[in-house]
Amino acid sequence: MRKFLLPALIVVGVLVLWFVLNPPRFWLNMTKSVDMTSEVGAQLVDEKDCRGCHRIGGEGALKASPLDPVVQRP
Ligand code: HEC
Repeated sequence: MRKFLLPALIVVGVLVLWFVLNPPRFWLNMTKSVDMTSEVGAQLVDEKDCRGCHRIGGEGALKASPLDPVVQRP
């Protein structure tokens, strides 16, 4: 039994580090709630640099289609 202790501890250690340092999306979805407001959306757009490719609200690059018309679709 003892010879499995160290590998088991290493596996648990790696899992703990993973969830603490870089939590996977499914875990965040289960544990973190976000109020979906337009402020949160605007913050995400800035954080993820959507304007690096898309034009949003008249600002941003033209590498991909502008996103303003997307929200006006039925
Ligand atoms: C690296 C460039 C790039 C970044 C950064 C990027 N996009 Fe895109 N996006 C594209 C490209 C290219 C397409 C078109 C893909 C296609 O038509 O197959 C696209 C398509 C889309 C579409 C579909 C548009 C339509 O007319 O149906 C949406 C919505 C979208 N992106 C949202 C976002 C959001 C939100 C972000 C930020 C989180 C983002 N994109 C960041 C390049 C990017």
